[in-house]
Amino acid sequence: MTLRPLLCLALLCSCLVADAEEPLSRIAFGSCADEKRPQPIWDAIRRLQPQLFIFTGDNIYADTADPEKLRESYEKLSQLPGFSTLRAATPVIGTWDDHDYGKNDAGAEFEGKGAAKEAFMEFFATPEDSPLRQREGIYDAKIFGPEGKRVQVILLDTRWFRGPLLTMSKDELKAARAEAGRPVGRYLPDAESKSTMLGEEQWKWLVDELKKPAELRLLVSGIQVLALDHGWEKWGNLPRERKRLLEVIRDHATDVVILSGDRHSSDISMVPPETDGGPFYPLYDITSSGLNQTGLPDEPNRFRVAGDRVYNEPNFGWIEIDWEAGDPLVTFEIRDLDGHVVREVKTTLNTLKPCRL
Ligand SMILES: [Fe+2]
Repeated sequence: MTLRPLLCLALLCSCLVADAEEPLSRIAFGSCADEKRPQPIWDAIRRLQPQLFIFTGDNIYADTADPEKLRESYEKLSQLPGFSTLRAATPVIGTWDDHDYGKNDAGAEFEGKGAAKEAFMEFFATPEDSPLRQREGIYDAKIFGPEGKRVQVILLDTRWFRGPLLTMSKDELKAARAEAGRPVGRYLPDAESKSTMLGEEQWKWLVDELKKPAELRLLVSGIQVLALDHGWEKWGNLPRERKRLLEVIRDHATDVVILSGDRHSSDISMVPPETDGGPFYPLYDITSSGLNQTGLPDEPNRFRVAGDRVYNEPNFGWIEIDWEAGDPLVTFEIRDLDGHVVREVKTTLNTLKPCRL
């Protein structure tokens, strides 16, 4: 059973009561930032004066279970002049991916995850009374802005609980690379896998979060949710989990847009309404990667809706919301080192609903 009628009714009943909090109209996001290499891109981000910056994972390349080395890496990032100036003026939130979690492509089995969580909470100045301190993982959510102009940011943890993935053998990988004529990932979609991506507690929490009222929801996942045509890490490697996520969105929330990173290239994907178990509205996955880690060759993507290839020079994601339009206009962009737009999609909040109002 789906909730299309209930969601429509809820939308018709929603009322707009403004309060004093300023709505978010300019949001920047990005991933894949090696703290040991220059990060000139922060200047372009700062010039746009974002009201919020969201790290979507691989925020440092620590790749260690050593708490001291993790702290040193975060400290290096904190000391970068461009980033420290941005952070002095702009709230910075985020989730992690594998390299800040502590090990390439790691999941639930990684023994260093407790130390990684400590270092993560220190860097993001997690409040002492945050529920994040009482539970496993680092998933979290926050709603910004007044009623009628609320932006909910949901930060998923796709590392702490994630079960094993199916991988190609060395010979299979070699053959796949030879056939493609470029590097390819080693993971295979495993339709039979019982591995979890989020763990049951986080799944329950996600449904509760999606039920909270908000006008736009940014669902942040370190790895791509929609893309299916590559062999690197992605939700598509656990098809049951990808389907579950799309169904959870369909059944519980309007106005969801996914933000992701990880790939060392950027791409904007969209599944049309009622595709793969997804919602009755277009579902976008805006992948921005990376802030200074890029260069992965082009690859196919059946869901690509902006440009005809991946963008693989340094870049960041940019979101603008025009709350004054009758049907608020939302622009999602990938911008380059100079702040120029290289990929873009525009939508409206009414388009991100199961029925047009
Ligand atoms: Fe990653």
